[in-house]
Amino acid sequence: MTVIGMLGCGTVGTGFLEVLKRRRWHEGRFQVRRALVTDPQRERWLPIPVELTDRPEAVVSDPDIQVVVDVLPDSAAAYGPVVQALENRKAVLTANRALVAEHGLELEQLALRQNVPFLYRAALLAGVPAAVALREYTLVSPVRAVCGVLHRAGHVVLTAMTQGQSPEDALQEMAEAGYVSARSAAEPDGREDLWSLVLLVRTITGAFPRLDHIRRRGLQGIEPADLAAAQRMGFVIKPLIFWEETPQWHRAIAEPMAVPGTHPLAHLAGYESGLLVWYEDIGPQLYVGLGGGALPTAAALVADLLSLTAWTPRTPVIEPWQSYRADHAMDAYLLRFVLARQSESLRTCVEGLERANVLIHRLETTLHESTRTLEVVVLTEPVPDQTMVDVLNGLRRQSAVQAIQAFRVPAVFRWDPTRVFRTGSTPPGAGPRR
Ligand SMILES: NC(=O)c1ccc[n+]([C@@H]2O[C@H](COP(=O)([O-])OP(=O)(O)OC[C@H]3O[C@@H](n4cnc5c(N)ncnc54)[C@H](OP(=O)(O)O)[C@@H]3O)[C@@H](O)[C@H]2O)c1
Repeated sequence: MTVIGMLGCGTVGTGFLEVLKRRRWHEGRFQVRRALVTDPQRERWLPIPVELTDRPEAVVSDPDIQVVVDVLPDSAAAYGPVVQALENRKAVLTANRALVAEHGLELEQLALRQNVPFLYRAALLAGVPAAVALREYTLVSPVRAVCGVLHRAGHVVLTAMTQGQSPEDALQEMAEAGYVSARSAAEPDGREDLWSLVLLVRTITGAFPRLDHIRRRGLQGIEPADLAAAQRMGFVIKPLIFWEETPQWHRAIAEPMAVPGTHPLAHLAGYESGLLVWYEDIGPQLYVGLGGGALPTAAALVADLLSLTAWTPRTPVIEPWQSYRADHAMDAYLLRFVLARQSESLRTCVEGLERANVLIHRLETTLHESTRTLEVVVLTEPVPDQTMVDVLNGLRRQSAVQAIQAFRVPAVFRWDPTRVFRTGSTPPGAGPRR
């Protein structure tokens, strides 16, 4: 009998107990001895009876507890107890993305020294077995790029805005259906995508990237008009995470980007997560499913629990990621300008782009009489990252420019999307991995 202690027993924690109950593993195989909560006296329903405590030591220092399951909401609450659990030589399983993204390197090293497992399958795309496949296949076939929608609250918000619905109503509906947690709904600032991307890069490369090496942007400032303009140009705006490695650079980005309407990722429903992975030898693979939620996340925790019997210590390649040299990476951009309706406005805008050698692939203008503004939507040819930053900063200083919104169209989308599902196809353009 394996004795388990839990740090937290909310949405995912209750799901964890539910999965154990459904498989009847609580009858003789696993015993959940105690769970840490903020308020043990609060009346609550649990699938199987568990003693509740508000003292972390009652979980992490109980000599009978062999496995600690961390389902606390953030790294601030979890860091201390998880360190203590590892120091007390207990296996730790966590669904806590923030904890792993912010302290993963240190915690993995501690676990390694203590010769105990520190597993976090549930923290990355829990409801989609992509992380498992990635871990196995990357040993055989290196990954050259990944691109996907991981954080569902942000995805729900953008999908609702695209469809003309209220983001608040859509989030509430998804929270009631158990697809997003009410808490994450309140922070569509890109943080959750940042954490997921860190875990993804760790899974693919073996190295934890530094948080400040990842380009991150949330949904703030995006208006329905931006999404409508993208649609007119044949794009859908999605909150994407993106990582690629070429012979020249590595780069990791978490921000809302423009996905061509014909691309498989453009068709993901708001509650779905999807990850497109380009393996060097296997070719592109698309993983789609419920990225989180109580039962999918709990199932991933239980999968880690079951894997403990086969766990053998291994020395992961852990090194701070150093080579994000993506200044020359080229992406196209979808730009939307709101200009004062003056005779010179359009020329100011176009000349600003041309002066920096930004080639215009397509340009569309709309006059808005009611606001006396000119809306200009531009699809550029690929341009270096820094050039676009400089151009936009320059244009923001022009008095005729009232607002600018810019969405990256990552270079991977230039790879023929019809090749995506053809096994064995490899993306052109990028050289072999070093
Ligand atoms: N929900 C999902 O779909 C999902 C998916 C993937 C990963 N995750 C991750 O899983 C973790 C848990 O998420 P959740 O949705 O289950 O959160 P939740 O419903 O808010 O549950 C959090 C639990 O932690 C307890 N808690 C919070 N702060 C505490 C503190 N300072 N000391 C002691 N106990 C504390 C709460 O106690 P009370 O019960 O007394 O309030 C509650 O039992 C998070 O890290 C999240 O990022 C969630």
